[in-house]
Amino acid sequence: MMLMHFVLVFLASIFASTQPQLVNSHEEKGEWNCNSPSDIRVNAEFRPGIVTLDGHPRDWKNIDGFEFPLLIAVDPDPESEYNGGKMTVKALHDGHDVFFMLQVDGEYAYSKGKSTECPSVALMFQIGENASYHRMGGCKEGPDTCTRKSCQGHEVDIMHFLLGNAIPGRLYGGNLVDSPGYGGGDRFGHLVDVYAWNPHCRYLDGHGPSGNRSSAQNDWRGAWWHSSLTVHSGFVEEDSPYADANKKGTYYFEFSRPLRTMDYLQQDAQFAIGKPTKFSVAFWYPENTKPWHGSGHYSINCDWIPLDIVSGSTGPTGVPREPQRSSWNTATVFSFLFSLAAFSTSIFVGYRVDSSSKTIPFTPMENL
Ligand SMILES: *[C@@H]1O[C@H](CO)[C@@H](O)[C@H](O)[C@H]1NC(C)=O
Ligand SMILES: *[C@@H]1O[C@H](CO)[C@@H](O)[C@H](O)[C@H]1NC(C)=O
Repeated sequence: MMLMHFVLVFLASIFASTQPQLVNSHEEKGEWNCNSPSDIRVNAEFRPGIVTLDGHPRDWKNIDGFEFPLLIAVDPDPESEYNGGKMTVKALHDGHDVFFMLQVDGEYAYSKGKSTECPSVALMFQIGENASYHRMGGCKEGPDTCTRKSCQGHEVDIMHFLLGNAIPGRLYGGNLVDSPGYGGGDRFGHLVDVYAWNPHCRYLDGHGPSGNRSSAQNDWRGAWWHSSLTVHSGFVEEDSPYADANKKGTYYFEFSRPLRTMDYLQQDAQFAIGKPTKFSVAFWYPENTKPWHGSGHYSINCDWIPLDIVSGSTGPTGVPREPQRSSWNTATVFSFLFSLAAFSTSIFVGYRVDSSSKTIPFTPMENL
């Protein structure tokens, strides 16, 4: 029953299949035109241990953001720019997980259970080498003929977060209760792990035209927040709508995922330190309190944007970072004196150890 409910919500909200004109609106009229700036990219620096996945922005304040205008995805005309302002995208990694923070201004809109009356965001990543940004992988097959074989090379990985059932500051996405067999779904909220070959061939991880595979998981986690919400010990569902409608402020969407996942089906992008990944961000907003529809979203660019998972020990160019310089102050002088004392002690200890260790033979590993 739960599963059925989920499937219905998923179909209704993502595929928006109840509104027939939407399917067509993915097919833009005329030639597709994209003048993507060649110099844009997003860096995910190695910054372990600074971010808590709670939707709050304060732990990101020292991380550089990348600002993008939000243009209507199916018609990226500058005239169509989101009137709330630009989106700031921040990313970092800790060697195991990659983290994203998306910030965008918008008056507070929340309607419990009605995700299309709340803002929403999605991340999309290239998996297959021939997957285009335009038309979500760009496989030419229709919904009846797209398969892993016929669309091979066009796989894209999508994380989509709908807020209608998500309490601000709470964590959604992959969870132990949904596994196994639930694939990329999320029965508590709607932070789902999806793959696609084109806008009409989109499935939860583990699901698809050739049946369901129990090995697939939802590898994403995330939370949302709005600056008009009051920070306290935590919201529960009964507090909905959590803040006053139409309050000016900023939305925050925070996500993480392991760099590598246990995907065996080509349904997750695999990140690697030092290797760029192609990605994009989509944003839906219920403008003038009108519900949004599936294809009516904004995007941060009309093509892929390179995402660099920067190595921890070197800068982006491979040149080791300069050590941080600091000025001399009392604390530094004291710590210098202490380390001088420690150094002298270690020379003495080192001498003692050295003179006593001569009798210990070196044991090569292979002889153990
Ligand atoms: C991508 O397209 C090229 C050219 O059509 C083709 O040679 C290559 O095999 C494709 N890659 C995949 C993974 O299908
Ligand atoms: C696959 O999963 C979906 C959604 O949970 C379900 O409706 C469908 O019946 C399943 N298909 C098979 C072949 O098990």
